[in-house]
Amino acid sequence: MPIQTTEKIWHNGSLIPWEQATLHVMSHVIHYGSSVFEGIRCYGQPQGSAVFRLPEHMQRLLDSAKIYRMEVPFTLEELCAGVVDLIEANGVAPCYIRPIVLRGYGEIGVSPKGSPIEVYIANFPWGKYIAGHGGADVCISSWNRLAPNTMPALAKAGANYMNSQLIHMEAEINGYQEGIALDVNGLVSEGSGENIFIVRNGVLFTPPLANSALSGITRDSVQTIARHLGLTVTEQALPRELLYIADEVFFTGTAAEVSPIRSIDRVVIGDGKPGEITKKIADEFFGIVNGLKPDRFGWLTPVKVDSSETVTA
Ligand SMILES: Cc1ncc(COP(=O)(O)O)c(C=O)c1O
Repeated sequence: MPIQTTEKIWHNGSLIPWEQATLHVMSHVIHYGSSVFEGIRCYGQPQGSAVFRLPEHMQRLLDSAKIYRMEVPFTLEELCAGVVDLIEANGVAPCYIRPIVLRGYGEIGVSPKGSPIEVYIANFPWGKYIAGHGGADVCISSWNRLAPNTMPALAKAGANYMNSQLIHMEAEINGYQEGIALDVNGLVSEGSGENIFIVRNGVLFTPPLANSALSGITRDSVQTIARHLGLTVTEQALPRELLYIADEVFFTGTAAEVSPIRSIDRVVIGDGKPGEITKKIADEFFGIVNGLKPDRFGWLTPVKVDSSETVTA
């Protein structure tokens, strides 16, 4: 989907015009993939709009930067305030928010020391990522997720998404909506941009982070919701074939939200319809983010966007 532009982008603490948020082609990030970023959603609600789990996303951004020894010259609070200011200045909600920390223009060569850290935050309308209400048809990728001693999977780094692109493109070319990657030991890891859950005999399973999965904020939210609903939630290594014989399988992610999976490698999951537990968790998740159920876990940061100015994703 083409990017829908807004008026302003937050750059190093100031709001600048969208068209001026440009980089030189010789910037470090362009040659060496040296960026860490976030994807966050702001939802429309009956009382206004609210950003979902803003501090948790910004903490993960700072953690990703720390792993790559990038010194971010802004605090968690300043970054969160930047998001709220930006959304209110642009008057665009619901929206997707994309903060990015990168190594800019300075020196050529792999060493990042002489290239300045730049921080940008953009927001823009963005709708459903994984289409289809009846569930997605997905495949197991021939590409593995990153080996733990190569690229750290807990950092949400731009460079990791070269691997995600291979997984996603292969799936699409072969007629699937998404690919699921195994880790280097052949155990289930995650989708190209989503965590994965299965339900079997009423228990919710997801792979541990040690299987090269990103520490998803939606993953954590779904685990919290599931426990609140009285379900048993287990993190354990999952062999590929457990996916085929699961009663229910679904993806989670900021972009994907809670997306049921209908088939994997053309093997129909359960009866091929979104399962009862998936539906219960999704109802609770969408109820909270859309402001129709109480924000019982304190996940929402309100933003003042006049609904008459609202652009719907
Ligand atoms: C590789 C990968 N795994 C999992 C996720 C889900 O994480 P979150 O729920 O924080 O969006 C994402 C999306 O950010 C991702 O890119």
